[in-house]
Amino acid sequence: MKLIAPSVLSADFGHLAQDLEMINRSDADWLHVDVMDGTFVPNISFGFPLMKPFKQYCTKPLDVHLMIVHPEKYVERFCDAGAWSVGFHLEAVDNPLPILDMIKAKGVRTCLTINPDIDVKRLVPYLDKVDMILLMSVFAGFGGQKFIPETMEKIRFIKSEIEKRGLKTLIEIDGGVNTENAAELFAAGADVLVAGSAVFGTKDPEKAIRVMKE
Ligand code: DX5
Ligand code: ZN
Repeated sequence: MKLIAPSVLSADFGHLAQDLEMINRSDADWLHVDVMDGTFVPNISFGFPLMKPFKQYCTKPLDVHLMIVHPEKYVERFCDAGAWSVGFHLEAVDNPLPILDMIKAKGVRTCLTINPDIDVKRLVPYLDKVDMILLMSVFAGFGGQKFIPETMEKIRFIKSEIEKRGLKTLIEIDGGVNTENAAELFAAGADVLVAGSAVFGTKDPEKAIRVMKE
């Protein structure tokens, strides 16, 4: 699969409706929603109040990426707020399984994610228990960082583990994705590319999305 999920973190919140209408017109597949709590990551983004305008103005599925401690306290509210997929960090919890079950019980797709310093092998026991794996290709917390090249090997590793098991688990890559590296990432086995600054930071975001998909 070759999907593009622009990260709304890089949108212009003073003109949010226009930015979301651009996403609606574009070839983007999902809208990536980065929720940061200032504790799991050294930055605070936004929370529930913005799920409403995202839902109202954006016709694409909302792919929620929780960069928060205690995701078990909040996943159900994000499901109720209209998330199409809810992901949280493996390293933020003791046992992801009950939290994945909470999301599944809401009929919402599940995603487990890890920061670049977490051993990718730790995801293997969960490959058959989630809809998607999100490999961070920068340290979670800020848009506009540089892609970490070691991510490429991790994609190939996780892809082979998924294929070995005959699973359909998607691989999403988040951080430093741009029109330059998108093709290589898809070729390595990525299914979904998140892009913030490479979309909203360009003069022609719709074109950037198109180029990344090709
Ligand atoms: C980083 C977020 C990313 C971020 C990506 O913590 O999870 O989704 O918005 O931004 P770019 O594409 O600018 O690296
Ligand atoms: Zn993200």
